[in-house]
Amino acid sequence: MRRLVWVVAGCLAGCRGGSSSEPPVHLNLNMDHQHYFEAQEENPFFEDRRAMRPQVPGTVAREQLHEDEHLYRGRMGGVFSDQIPVPVDKTLLQRGQARFEIFCAPCHDRAGTGQGLVAKRGVKQGMIAPPDFHGSRVRAMPVGQIFDAISNGARAMPSYSKQIGLRDRWAIVAYLRVLQASHNTPIGQVPADIAEQKGWTGVVASTPAPKAAPAPAPVPSPGPAKP
Ligand code: HEC
Repeated sequence: MRRLVWVVAGCLAGCRGGSSSEPPVHLNLNMDHQHYFEAQEENPFFEDRRAMRPQVPGTVAREQLHEDEHLYRGRMGGVFSDQIPVPVDKTLLQRGQARFEIFCAPCHDRAGTGQGLVAKRGVKQGMIAPPDFHGSRVRAMPVGQIFDAISNGARAMPSYSKQIGLRDRWAIVAYLRVLQASHNTPIGQVPADIAEQKGWTGVVASTPAPKAAPAPAPVPSPGPAKP
C-alpha cells in the first residue's frame, strides 16, 4: 500500500513542469468554452446580419465622453485655444518630433516648409500645396487650430485622428511650435550659453537685442474658424 502511494505521488509530480502540444484535460468546463463572435463575423439573429452592433443613437459609451473641450477639441469657450493642455517637456517634444517626421514630413517636409517628397511630386500633378509653417499665416494660428487640422483635417488635408492618438497629436503641435521658433527667433533672443556654444557670439554682439523682446506680430489669418 505504501509503495502504491509513492507510485501515485511520483506520477503526479512527474506531470509538473512538463510541456505538451495537446490542450490540457479540462474536467470542469465552467464557462471557459463559450460561443463568441469574432470581429466582422455574421450573425443571422439581426436583420443587418452584423455581429458587431453599431452604437445606439443618443448614447455615450464608456471612455467616449470627451467633455474636456480644450484637450479633445483644442478649444476653450468654443474658440481655439493658444495653450497646450498637456505638460510640455523634453520627452513630449522628442515624441512630437518622431511622430511629425513619420506622419507629417512626407508632405510638410521635416523642416515644415511644405516641400515634402509627396508634395513635391503631387503639386506637379495638381495636388494643393501644403502651407509653409514658417509663414505668417500658420505662425499666427493658435495651437488649438493646428490640433484641429491634425484631428479633423483642413480642406485638402485629411484627418489623422485614426492614425495618431490624442496625446501624440498634442506632442506634434508642441514640436511644430519648436520648428517655428527655430526659423523665427531673433538672434538677440537666443540664450547666451547656446549662442556661445554655436559660435554665434559675434553675431549677437553686432545685432542689437530688442529691449522688450517683442513676440512676432500676429498677422490676421485668412483661414476659416478664426474668431
Ligand atoms: C498627404 C499630405 C499631408 C500630410 C501627410 C499632412 N498634411 Fe498638413 N496639409 C496638407 C495640405 C495639402 C495642406 C493644405 C490644405 C489646403 O489648404 O487645402 C495642409 C495644411 C496643413 C495645415 C494648415 C491648416 C489650415 O487651416 O490652413 C496644418 C497646420 C497642417 N497641415 C499640419 C499637418 C500636420 C501637423 C501633419 C502631421 C500630423 C500634417 N499636416 C500631415 C497635406 C498634408
